[in-house]
Amino acid sequence: MEKLIIQGGKKLKGKVDINGFKNAAVAILPATVLAGDTCVIENLPCISDVNILSQILGNLGATIEKRDVNTLQINTKSIDSCFVDYEMAKDLRASYYFLGAALARFKKARVIYPGGCHIGSRPIDQHIKGFEALGAQVEIEHGIISVEAERLIGAEIYMDVVSVGATINVMMAATMAEGVTIIENAAKEPHVVDVANFLNCMGSKIRGAGTDTIKIQGVDKMKGCQHAVIPDQIEAGTYMIAAAATGGDVIVNNVIPKHLEAVTAKLREMGVKITEEGDALHVVASHPLKNVNIKTLVYPGFPTDLQQPMSSLLTVAKGTGIVTETIFEGRFKHVDELKRMGANMKVEGRVAVVEGVEGLMGAKVAASDLRAGAALVVAGLIAEGETEIENVHYIKRGYDRIYEKLQNLGAEIRKID
Ligand code: UD1
Repeated sequence: MEKLIIQGGKKLKGKVDINGFKNAAVAILPATVLAGDTCVIENLPCISDVNILSQILGNLGATIEKRDVNTLQINTKSIDSCFVDYEMAKDLRASYYFLGAALARFKKARVIYPGGCHIGSRPIDQHIKGFEALGAQVEIEHGIISVEAERLIGAEIYMDVVSVGATINVMMAATMAEGVTIIENAAKEPHVVDVANFLNCMGSKIRGAGTDTIKIQGVDKMKGCQHAVIPDQIEAGTYMIAAAATGGDVIVNNVIPKHLEAVTAKLREMGVKITEEGDALHVVASHPLKNVNIKTLVYPGFPTDLQQPMSSLLTVAKGTGIVTETIFEGRFKHVDELKRMGANMKVEGRVAVVEGVEGLMGAKVAASDLRAGAALVVAGLIAEGETEIENVHYIKRGYDRIYEKLQNLGAEIRKID
């Protein structure tokens, strides 16, 4: 089992390059099934979720060639059906995107009930509602979701909750439905737009992605294309927070600053200096920082994926901060670990109250999910002495070469087996 060892207290300094967005990549890879042709996907992050999804595509019959470390050439012509089983995808959430993509192309798919991080109940009723509205029958038996339709017919679908996954999945399923599909109350996250751009590049006719109404005019056929994944706003936000937490001076390169407005605004409110330099953000911090309140919201609000790393930073900011998690009810599992390191925090339901302390102390801690892992890395960088983090596999699901990147910024961090 791998562990991360961090000697905290070093100020991060230098430049870090941000990779492609995990949450876009994990939808784009299953979406290549729609092409039945060759797609070239550039700027893929080197993370375990991407590796697993490309293995699933290979198992389904796709031909995959690695053009370079971040580029895959994928031909999905030979795929003629879609069954994604437990062994292939038990640790993944994004496996459910094979449902939407394969339903559109084959009118049929079977995929295990999705796994992923344990951060709440994570229902998939809105995905199912969308598939059914398009004319599919959906059954869940023995942990397998089966979708099947004779024909898919465009429909008006109102999402009861704003869901990134359901918006993308239904958008994919509707690409080749007869007539027009309208998704109301759609998610507006940057990766919804990136996936829509990729689908349009493959021949679909999607308008309105990035707003709360998405219109899809069904087409008969899709084709291969070349697409570069957008930069990872969550990875970028994590490095910005880590820079601030260590009182560092870091240039976060290859970002779309607009996607980071919520985190930039919060860090500025704390007293961090952030300047936009083209496609980079320059983050300079000196302590003490002022505590702030955070409320997670759908885009363009403060992203739930940065709530955990951000709360590590709040533990050492002056005063009281209130963190309200509105998206996932179980996203405070990192708090007990932060307390082991000396944080003064209290959780009541969906709210955590943080009383800033002078500093954190290194300790043995364990990541309970991907972003909780990122929170512990941030805490380890702040803490005096040695922090040992277990369950590193969660962190590898979403952060491309995190040790190397942090080492390059001057952190004392290493991985042990
Ligand atoms: C995606 C991201 C995840 C991020 C989350 C919110 C990926 C692979 N993951 O997850 O990193 O934290 O968006 O930005 O892109 N819900 C329902 N019914 C549904 C679907 C969702 O009630 O059918 C609820 C969820 O329980 C949650 C909220 O809607 O409370 C948002 O979930 P959703 O946007 O679907 O998250 P994911 O797509 O799973």
